Formats: sequence, structure tokens, C-alpha cells
Amino acid sequence: MLIPKLPLLLKPFLLSLFLSLAVITFLATTTPLHRRNTSKMTTPIPSATKKDGLRIRPGYTNYSVYIQRQLNKTLDPKLRQLWKTRDWERKVRVFSDFFESLKQRNLLWNTSRALSIGARVGQEVEALRRIGVADSIGMDLVPCPPLVVAGDFHAQPFENATFDFEFSNVFDHALYPWKFVGEMERTLKPGGVCVLHVALSRRADKYSANDLYSVGPLTELFRLSKLVEVRNVDGFGLDTENMIYYIKYITCGSL
Ligand SMILES: C[S@@+](CC[C@H](N)C(=O)[O-])C[C@H]1O[C@@H](n2cnc3c(N)ncnc32)[C@H](O)[C@@H]1O
Repeated sequence: MLIPKLPLLLKPFLLSLFLSLAVITFLATTTPLHRRNTSKMTTPIPSATKKDGLRIRPGYTNYSVYIQRQLNKTLDPKLRQLWKTRDWERKVRVFSDFFESLKQRNLLWNTSRALSIGARVGQEVEALRRIGVADSIGMDLVPCPPLVVAGDFHAQPFENATFDFEFSNVFDHALYPWKFVGEMERTLKPGGVCVLHVALSRRADKYSANDLYSVGPLTELFRLSKLVEVRNVDGFGLDTENMIYYIKYITCGSL
């Protein structure tokens, strides 16, 4: 008696199974509030082309190789000691002057919630706090409490629309430049300000993952933001034999 009725019972069961799968698939593909686990980043490594002025460097055969290379320098105990002692005050002062100039131009306020991306031992964060931007934090692959939390800029550990201001001078370390920019736009509030220092037309350093030859390809990566200004930056504690620009973007909306 039960067996002939089974196909009839199966119909609603299969229908609800199908609907559940559709809902799960939808939820899994919508933008998460934050992205934490990058250890299994499976996006294919971009090929080493110099497409439109942005070139991904060859040699990163998989994501672990890339991360390991970044960590080799950042975790070096002798260097960390130097960054926290000999280099500390000089860099904090240079960063402070720069951030102060942004305040004077109404791009940064004491009330801004600020993030510094690739902040290493936190000189940028110390500078922000010193000039009065109290709610500032840094993020790096290697945490450095209390100024810098752990995080990968390809998948920031922050919720959507968290910050009013984001700064970074490590765009050249991005293996997936579009993720670097996409994550900035995701975590910036609408109307938020992003300031990048980038080196153009030179091999930035041996730990870089990309080379940028003009501002155009970088600007194209910003899908929700308006480019406000590009200008030369001098004396930023970087090798100024080559052109260094800083670029401000204002995000227009969130994802
Ligand atoms: C050239 S250092 C810049 C440090 C600091 N901004 C400064 O000016 O002193 C690059 C930093 O980017 C960090 N970094 C590299 N890849 C990263 C990633 N995928 N996510 C977060 N930080 C990363 C490195 O650990 C390193 O501390």
C-alpha cells in the first residue's frame, strides 16, 4: 500500500530539497559581512603580464608561496627590533606630518575611524593617534599589538562600511590588486576617503607582487569611488629618485 504512494510523497520532498539548495546557493554567493579565512585562497595566480600598465610579478606559484615571501621579511626579528627602535620616531614624525596635511584639507578628522593597511609595526597608526585621530587601527599579516591587528588585505577581517578613512603604501604587495581595492571599497563607509601612496615606473622592492606603471590601471580598479587627486609626494621616507604619487579616492557607495 505504501509503495505505490511513494512517488506522490517524493514530489513535495524533492521540491523542498530543490528550494533549500537554491537558498543555500544564493546565501553562499552574496557578499559576506566580512571575510576572514584566506589561508585557502584558491583564486588562480594572475599571469605575469604587463597589461595596461599593471604587471603581476612572476614566481608566485601559489598563495602560500606569496604569503611566505611576505612573512620572511616582516617576521625577521632583527628588522622588527630596528623598526620599533631606530626607525620608530623618524617614521612616526613623517607620517604625522602627512596625516596632519590631510586633516587641514578636510579629508581626515579627529572623529574619523581610520585603518592603515600593511602597517607592519604600526608607525602609521601611532602617527594617526598622535595627531588626534584616536579611533585608528592598523592591519598586517603579522599583528603587532596594540596598534596592528592580523589580517590579509585581500580579504579584510572587517565588516562592510566600517571605516571613514583608509591609508596604504603597500599596494605593490598585492597579488590580486582588484581584491585589494575591492576590499577597501567594501570596508569604507559611503563618502569614506582612501589615500594610497604608490611608486610608479620602478621596481618597488623585491617583496612586491606587482609593478604599476601609471595611475590609470589603479583608478580602473575602483568601481565605487571617484578619483579626487593625484600628486607627487616627496620625502616620504621612500626612495624619491622615482616618482611617488599619492592618490585619494572617495567612495560613493558600498557593495
Ligand atoms: C613595505 S612594508 C610597509 C610597512 C609600512 N606600511 C611602512 O611604511 O613602514 C609592507 C607590509 O605589507 C605587509 N603585507 C604584505 N602582504 C600583505 C597582505 N596580503 N595582507 C596584509 N599585509 C600584507 C607586510 O607584512 C609588510 O608589513
